[in-house]
Amino acid sequence: MAKSTTYVCASCGAVHKKWAGRCDGCGEWNTIREQAALSAGPKGKTLGASKGRRLELSSLSAQDKPLQRAHFGIGELDRVLGGGLVPASAILVGGDPGIGKSTLLLQAAGEFAREGHKVLYVSGEEAASQIRMRAARLGLTDAPVQLAAETNLRDILTTLDAERPALAIIDSIQTMWADHVDSAPGSVSQVRAAAHELTSFAKRRGISVILVGHVTKDGQIAGPRVIEHMVDTVLYFEGERGHQFRILRAVKNRFGPANEIGVFEMTGAGLEQVTNPSALFLSERDKPTSGSVVFAGIEGTRPVLVEIQALVAQSSLASPRRTVVGWDSGRLAMILAVLESRCGIGFGGLDVYLNIAGGIKIGEPAADLAVAAALVSARQDHALPPDSVVFGEISLSGALRPTAQAENRLKEAEKLGFSSAYTAKRIKTVANSGLNVHKSDDLVSFIETCFGRIEN
Ligand code: TYD
Ligand code: MG
Repeated sequence: MAKSTTYVCASCGAVHKKWAGRCDGCGEWNTIREQAALSAGPKGKTLGASKGRRLELSSLSAQDKPLQRAHFGIGELDRVLGGGLVPASAILVGGDPGIGKSTLLLQAAGEFAREGHKVLYVSGEEAASQIRMRAARLGLTDAPVQLAAETNLRDILTTLDAERPALAIIDSIQTMWADHVDSAPGSVSQVRAAAHELTSFAKRRGISVILVGHVTKDGQIAGPRVIEHMVDTVLYFEGERGHQFRILRAVKNRFGPANEIGVFEMTGAGLEQVTNPSALFLSERDKPTSGSVVFAGIEGTRPVLVEIQALVAQSSLASPRRTVVGWDSGRLAMILAVLESRCGIGFGGLDVYLNIAGGIKIGEPAADLAVAAALVSARQDHALPPDSVVFGEISLSGALRPTAQAENRLKEAEKLGFSSAYTAKRIKTVANSGLNVHKSDDLVSFIETCFGRIEN
């Protein structure tokens, strides 16, 4: 049978019939690579019902033992995993190169080993002496972690089989090489095969595995998205390289809430936990500043207050700039359009810059109202009171939609010393709260409440 060729995206794994510059699946450029198709079975043969084994079926009401979780002793990591490590689970930790994945996982390995669990740390990127140097910096030399610097998957599996650790960390999956697959390490087929071998082998032996995956923009090596479906939990380590804050975010979790975040600070001696992120994401806020608004957000199960900063300036360009850090630029365009057509507040001829302070990324639509407030505040050079928070979703009609978990947001604001909140009507408020909650039906009345009538 003739072998045909397929084209596979190295970023998301989408399969294409022909080569293209841009992947339809994920929108990345230059990530599509040629790949020999796997040969199909003999023509005309299908799996019949004759040779299979009859499955044992069970009901939904069957009683299982509750999940036993092991704790890392790093609270923020345990929280993101949904309360600790589930035995025989597979976890993927993705992130940009240099963001701190190896640092985080070496610390996790050290603490886990100190808790009395057997941990194997396999690095395909650094020599054992380099890892020992890092461990010395992190104060982990006494932690009983077993180290190996290896990329050959067959040898790693043999070692896992002999050692039977509770946890194996593979840093990184893109450096692993499975000798039964005929392509270079880092290619889509190698990364898939290595991840499949490791996760299925570890599951059978009751070993938990953590796979490290580099996020790549250029498609030279396969990104972690091609193996997201194979693992139980997918965590991404985010942050700005120049910033010291790092956020570990669960984007998929079969054993806990998705979207939960853990917050860390990169210091000279490794990552330190930040247990009160709200205090950290708010910069000095004693005097009113125009363009700066505090958004009362929710990340996973935890309320987080963040500062949204906007700057609006006269533009000298034919098409003015729209620059966004930490938020979706499409969503910004939408808010600008709603402000213009529903409230008559135009931004034509003005450059608009929007920044979420602290290097956190916000995905919640509830930030709409805070963004709108920051934009109008910057445009009018009119500051909101510094002790107020804002949240609410804006619809295209200009109406404000109530937001989930309003109570938690308000409680967090009150806890951190804020005295007023601006939001949509029909939200559940906290009983006996000292917080002064201003509720509006739509964007027009919200803007009038905050800034008075705006003449154009
Ligand atoms: P690393 O964990 O090697 O990143 P990754 O595995 O995601 O590629 O982190 C590398 C960066 O972290 C490097 O630029 C140095 C910095 N770093 C510190 O600031 N403090 C530390 O204690 C350590 C170990 C690293
Ligand atoms: Mg690394």
